[in-house]
Amino acid sequence: MFDPHAVRALFPALAQEVAGRPAVFFDGPGGTQVPRSVIEAIAGYLAHSNANTHGAFATSRRTDETIAAAHQAMADLLGCAPEETVFGPNMTTLTFALSRAIGRDLGPGDEIVVTRLDHDANVAPWRALEERGVGIREVDVDVEDCTLDMADLAAKVNERTRLVAVGYASNSVGTINDAARAVELARGVGALSFVDAVHYAPHGPIDVRALGCDFLACSVYKFFGPHIGVLYGKAEHLERLRPYKVRPASDAGPDRWMTGTQNHEGLAGVTAAVDYLASLGGGAAGGRRAALVAAMTAIKAYERTLSEQLISGLLRVPGLTFYGIREPERFAWRTPTVSLRLEGRAPRELAEALGERGVFAWDGNYYALSLSERLGVEPLGGMVRIGLAHYNTAEEVDYLLEVLGGLG
Ligand SMILES: Cc1ncc(COP(=O)(O)O)c(C=O)c1O
Repeated sequence: MFDPHAVRALFPALAQEVAGRPAVFFDGPGGTQVPRSVIEAIAGYLAHSNANTHGAFATSRRTDETIAAAHQAMADLLGCAPEETVFGPNMTTLTFALSRAIGRDLGPGDEIVVTRLDHDANVAPWRALEERGVGIREVDVDVEDCTLDMADLAAKVNERTRLVAVGYASNSVGTINDAARAVELARGVGALSFVDAVHYAPHGPIDVRALGCDFLACSVYKFFGPHIGVLYGKAEHLERLRPYKVRPASDAGPDRWMTGTQNHEGLAGVTAAVDYLASLGGGAAGGRRAALVAAMTAIKAYERTLSEQLISGLLRVPGLTFYGIREPERFAWRTPTVSLRLEGRAPRELAEALGERGVFAWDGNYYALSLSERLGVEPLGGMVRIGLAHYNTAEEVDYLLEVLGGLG
């Protein structure tokens, strides 16, 4: 079984204290903490390799190698070719760049399907194409358990659909969607599929080939690395589509999608973050990809035990409203991210009370705006999100439950 205590020692930030007791980092869905190896890789790049690309000297060559290594690392994490990975400042910026490129060929009569469960970064870039006359269809959620209404999705995909944009997992309530089914529905009508894996990435293995999606995006700062976004695109699409770019920049491979100078120190951190995850793979034979699959599978199993403890405990707290999947037998369809409200306390007030007691948790809508509106909590300040990662422990969950019990 996965041992969180062994990994915690690798994360300097986790040693912080609030009011004399260890801080509890339940803010992971907004960005996780990073292991020392990632911090050292970033600092190491700046100390030894800092330069721009494609120069005829040592530091520039090392920079080219740093970038190539990051492409290979992300290819191993996602199960694709290095040329199919694109880097950028964050997922939102990459998705806007992609939607503009795809939108060049779209107009009135074309439709894009988005969902009410998604973070707005997988909605607004597609909605931006409304100015070209593109129709946007929004798939509903079942408010009882915050799952995507798959029948509604199937009904909204038709011969006019050009792209289906779906989340792999909800950053608000933790629901894991049947993304493979969404991809299949898109393919059935000849539409593209775009999967937002930002929230899912730290919680389980990803295999873009098995998923069959055309595009998938994630953010490295959500899986123990620096603030960098990554876009996977099938090679044929990255070659065919026309990104907005400057003329002197390379028109080959993923470079044509990577506008301007990249965050090279961050890319050194990307490789280190992927290597950190691979190191949890228990020395699986078959190289880094196999180690990553083993590691993410072990993380998923461990986090499921935390979810069971957390959710069964939350459901016993008086005055607490819980949003999302709550039955342990369905936990394969959720991450250890939950949203809740406590009677008599506005979400910000509750988050402040938790923060004073050393529990770091987000409040509001966390940019999953349509869901917050659909649940009717947007005018009420949204919800409070408890987001666990593999470095969290059963003791921390017990502490949260004790604190919430005292506040309720
Ligand atoms: C599910 C999901 N999608 C997209 C994003 C946006 O990612 P980025 O901050 O890299 O633009 C986030 C960030 O919270 C997210 O949780």
